[in-house]
Amino acid sequence: MGACSVKKTTKKQGRGPGGGGASSNRRRSTPGRKKSFERRREPRTTALPPADTHFEFGGHSFEFRRHPEISDPTLRAWSAADEYVLRTLFPDSEASSASSASSAATTGAAWKSILVANDPFGALTVVLHALLPDVKVVHLTDSWLGQESLRKNLVANGYREDAVASVNVTSDPEELDTRFDLVVIHVPKALAFLGYEAEWMKPCLAPAAKVLAVGMTKHLSPHTSALLEERFGPTQTLRVFKKAVIFQVDEITEQEVDEEALMPAWYEIATEDDDSILGEDTTRAAGEPTPGGRNVDELDADEPRADGAIRVFAYPGVFGARRLDAGTRLLLQHLPALEPGQHAVDLGCGSGVLGLALATSQPEAKITLVDESYLAIASAALSFEENGLPAPETLIADGVGGLPSASMDLVVSNPPFHSNHAMTVEEATRLFRPAFEVLKPGGMLLVVGAHGVDYGPTLRRIFGGSTRLGSDRRYSVLGASKSAAQDESPRSE
Ligand SMILES: C[S@@+](CC[C@H](N)C(=O)[O-])C[C@H]1O[C@@H](n2cnc3c(N)ncnc32)[C@H](O)[C@@H]1O
Repeated sequence: MGACSVKKTTKKQGRGPGGGGASSNRRRSTPGRKKSFERRREPRTTALPPADTHFEFGGHSFEFRRHPEISDPTLRAWSAADEYVLRTLFPDSEASSASSASSAATTGAAWKSILVANDPFGALTVVLHALLPDVKVVHLTDSWLGQESLRKNLVANGYREDAVASVNVTSDPEELDTRFDLVVIHVPKALAFLGYEAEWMKPCLAPAAKVLAVGMTKHLSPHTSALLEERFGPTQTLRVFKKAVIFQVDEITEQEVDEEALMPAWYEIATEDDDSILGEDTTRAAGEPTPGGRNVDELDADEPRADGAIRVFAYPGVFGARRLDAGTRLLLQHLPALEPGQHAVDLGCGSGVLGLALATSQPEAKITLVDESYLAIASAALSFEENGLPAPETLIADGVGGLPSASMDLVVSNPPFHSNHAMTVEEATRLFRPAFEVLKPGGMLLVVGAHGVDYGPTLRRIFGGSTRLGSDRRYSVLGASKSAAQDESPRSE
């Protein structure tokens, strides 16, 4: 396949895929600590004290954990952003006084229903549910892992796992049948996703709903306040508390839904032959204009595509939504040709670009797309549909664990390298063992990683070795095969 010129537009198809995350969680940063992958290349072998799990507010005690758990003891399941929201909602509550928290809950808080968006591990949602037992609290997220975390943290604190409803951002907001009078938003990494969520939730907000959007200052875009103002109405920035900041909208005034913000964008990858996708380097610094300087909204989805080009669609916030990632591009160049009937998994599929390339070059192969993001799965399914390919199997899950063992010929992945805002290789390496299990004997795992993210040692432990199939100045592609002998006695980690 050949050099890709990258074209973008938005697809007009009604509101959102349903048809209708910020906390740093670092208690303290060590002075001079290098923010580098190298430091966490290998799982730690020495025992570290576990992360703090005990949280107190208003005389209530809670236990919160991240799910999946992470070995870095500085990463807790809540942050100063959560504390700031609670202190803002319950200003009369001393952290030690149960009775004042309860009285604030009953007197000061006149809310009937609260929507909590992007609460990464469910801690804030659980506390609000505990402090306001008569208020309807609903959790909104794009993350299956976030939902799993909420369920586990509810149970850990003595509630049923379904005590708080959790809805995902691809569902129909009208189905909630609620008009929330308070919205608390953990500001997500991608502002485009914040815009999507703001428009998604408008149909289920009370006319004068109040919005509190919170984040850690180091994670926030300088455009956050302007975006909230544009989407909701006049926004004030509250003072910084423990490096967290709150943007407050006292009353939403912008109630009309801007459908554009709910639409997917697309770009094209031109193909030259069936075996490879080359793709020009479309890497840009954040904030740089899209290639060609054209705004994503200015293009028309009906525009004819280049001969043989693949169109990749992605909803706002999905990885690589506006351009082909440079690591993904390198992996595309090393995808093997599948035989008819073979079965491949795109693990952490995002927009589905890898699975799409495999399906395009071998239409008789079976493709399974896995991601923990609902919008990613919706994007990937749309990408297949728009390219006239048969609907792939899709799985919203934590890795490939839900797939039958020894059933796949190939697993391809540009794996995640973050746990919430923290960079880590643990997320990726945690996914490799189940990938090994689902491969048939002779099957292969193909992964791409940035230099400095060395997946080699983990692949050696699980597969017995790996081969560097290619590299450029920033990324390497590694392939690891499962031998027949390993299928009978897999290596232990
Ligand atoms: C680096 S992106 C790659 C996306 C896409 N394959 C590409 O190359 O453009 C990693 C993807 O993994 C997904 N992801 C993160 N953690 C996951 C998990 N535990 N299970 C499944 N998917 C996960 C993210 O939502 C994201 O879409």
